[in-house]
Amino acid sequence: MSHILHLDSSPRGSRSISRALTQEFISHWVKHHPQDTVTYRDVGKHPIPPVDEAWIAGAFSKTEVLSSELANALQLSDELITEVLKADRYVFGVPMYNFNIPANFKSYIDQVVRINRTFTPAWKGLLKHKKMLILSTRGSRYAAGTDLIRYDFQEPYLRTVFGFIGVSDITFIYAEGLNDGEKVRQQSLAQARDLIQQMITTW
Ligand SMILES: Cc1cc2nc3c(=O)[nH]c(=O)nc-3n(C[C@H](O)[C@H](O)[C@H](O)COP(=O)(O)O)c2cc1C
Repeated sequence: MSHILHLDSSPRGSRSISRALTQEFISHWVKHHPQDTVTYRDVGKHPIPPVDEAWIAGAFSKTEVLSSELANALQLSDELITEVLKADRYVFGVPMYNFNIPANFKSYIDQVVRINRTFTPAWKGLLKHKKMLILSTRGSRYAAGTDLIRYDFQEPYLRTVFGFIGVSDITFIYAEGLNDGEKVRQQSLAQARDLIQQMITTW
């Protein structure tokens, strides 16, 4: 039995392809694994604030007992980290924005990657036995073998930052070339949906 953290980061609603794909994955998954449970986090529609001075002072504080100001500054981070620790699997919808991830998802990562909570001062990740699926949507194509692969800062960044906190089992499914004409768009969506179907029984 698994607990899944389902997260969307597109600010778009019904037009969002990444949202549609995470939703499709989760609805098929729970049909095939009815004992599994899901927590939903929407950082696209409910953006996460960037870390600020009080957050940094609290996160790096050497004292056990924080002032109420610093404890308050870490409250959302505490909540998000509890969610991340509780889940065994992550299903994240992530559009490509300017060759990387949307700023709201970066703010989420900054809240979750926290010293002594998700990594140690010796750079040891504290998350264990987790699996991550990233459903990434892109206007152009960056897959291996394409000319644009060197512009993809998304996959290397996400593998590095989540690897840093201990999540190394990461699968990417891309819906790419979504702005490359209807034929490419439909082919890419069909391919992503096939891979999603395969993941339901093999993940
Ligand atoms: C602000 C912004 C920046 C974008 N930057 C890129 C980019 O660098 N590369 C790319 O291939 N597509 C880019 N796109 C296209 C999106 O990745 C594409 O529309 C994707 O479907 C968005 O995900 P969503 O459908 O879940 O909202 C960008 C779109 C927006 C709105």
